[in-house]
Amino acid sequence: MDAMLRMWLSWSPLALALLSILVIREIGRRHRKGHKLPPGPTPLPLIGNLHQVLSGMPHRCFASLAEKYGPIMTLRLGQTTTVVVSSPDMAREVLQKHDLAFSGRTVPDALRTLGHSDLSVAWLPANQEWRNLRRITNTQLFTTRRLDSTKGLRAQKVRELISYVSECCVSQKALNIGRLVSVTTLNLMSSTIFSVDFADLRSDSSPEVIELIQDIMKATAEPNLADFFPWLTVVGPLAQRRRVTKSLKKLHDIFDEHVDRRLRGEDAKPHDDLLDTLLHGENMECMLDRLTRNAFFSDLFSAGTDTSSITVAWAMAELLRNPELMAKVKEEIGRVIEPGKDVEESDVEKLQYLQAVIKETFRLHPAAPFLLPHRAEKTVEVGDGYVVPEGTRVLVSNWAIGRDSRVWEEPEVFMPERFLKKDIDLRGHDFELTPFGSGRRICAGFPLAFRMVPLMLASLLRGFDWKLPEGMAPEDIDMREALGLTMAMNVPLMAVPFAA
Ligand code: HEM
Repeated sequence: MDAMLRMWLSWSPLALALLSILVIREIGRRHRKGHKLPPGPTPLPLIGNLHQVLSGMPHRCFASLAEKYGPIMTLRLGQTTTVVVSSPDMAREVLQKHDLAFSGRTVPDALRTLGHSDLSVAWLPANQEWRNLRRITNTQLFTTRRLDSTKGLRAQKVRELISYVSECCVSQKALNIGRLVSVTTLNLMSSTIFSVDFADLRSDSSPEVIELIQDIMKATAEPNLADFFPWLTVVGPLAQRRRVTKSLKKLHDIFDEHVDRRLRGEDAKPHDDLLDTLLHGENMECMLDRLTRNAFFSDLFSAGTDTSSITVAWAMAELLRNPELMAKVKEEIGRVIEPGKDVEESDVEKLQYLQAVIKETFRLHPAAPFLLPHRAEKTVEVGDGYVVPEGTRVLVSNWAIGRDSRVWEEPEVFMPERFLKKDIDLRGHDFELTPFGSGRRICAGFPLAFRMVPLMLASLLRGFDWKLPEGMAPEDIDMREALGLTMAMNVPLMAVPFAA
């Protein structure tokens, strides 16, 4: 022990000198003339600011650091540089003024498997392949004409949901709201793509596709050394990448099975689905190879299922915590929708208070608290002469913007009324609220989400009254968030339907 101590004492001046040089170099790097990085906490050698962001939930850590360092802030995370943007003005700079320069993606190491990040519409840089895939979503899935022609399918999926909830109403069964909505959305997606249902609302076990998607999302969001010290991957893929490889392969197998069955002509009925367009369409840009097609399907399932169910679950949790708001939204639905009629997509524009509830949910509980990580494709000057170097990861903190008292009155209070007075839309024009992002990387599926989320929420509220499970009071609802690329409730919301 003594020997160790003697050795440490003899080396410590050298170690100290080395540490000082590294710190001074980092400070110098930040302030070099013409290269003023946005401010941020002084990084430690080697780990940078990792200790400050891994000590709690990243969205909360970033928000409290931004309080001190301002709306554009630099963090050194291991060997990498991240810039976090936390005000509407700075979000506008990144997503609108310098949209093209910040249109890249910083790909989490876990997704660099099976070629996924080089084929995926969500993770490709904004290049020709990405444009082609975006064009397919725009022209084959989410045009107004296409969405109008598939509204019957969505109505049917929502009817199935309501019919299942009615059965549970009789038995007073507590239901996991997020699961109900994710199974409904999953079936909507699988019917749109393959003309089949992937899951059964009545089954108690979680559908395999949802399990696989959630595993991929979790592994991607877990802190991963390879994302902070990229050289580590020289040694071989780390645990998270191995996990994603396994789940992604299983997901591809499921898709391949459906494609092969269709190619063998085994399902006889005529289809007008995405698979048919991709296999037999006349449009050359829709001719995707097998791996690209599978990456495309994985993106659609993972981007669409989780986000919609998270949003409906948070909205229901807020309404159950605030019975007077629940009464108000139900009163509106009862007034607008004729007795005995189902809620239809065309009713939503008349449901102003319901829309305000959804906006307020996005403000406090954005499904993607940082959007997806953008990347500076070239060195850009932003804000007050700050420079964001090429290759920087750029995060837009929707979560912090939504809770900023300079932007919102009483930001911690769930108050849908604020949106009745304020004309804010969700299409990425108002940078106080951009739950779908803005600019060229805006969510590809937002026209579908605009229809599906209000329709599901309104239908669940229209048909039933809801209460919390026996012995639980509104203040007992656990409103903590789970760690992830998307921000679900940490404890799934359970609620009991009863006849309205
Ligand atoms: C409540 C529902 C939804 C929310 C809140 C949401 C939110 C988002 C956000 C924040 C992004 C990243 C934007 C950025 O990085 O700037 C995104 C990207 C994306 N979303 Fe959504 N989304 C939802 C539903 C959907 C649906 C239903 C689909 C399709 C079925 C979808 C497909 C995509 C795709 C493909 C991307 C990647 C776009 C790209 O990188 O070019 N999303 N979404």
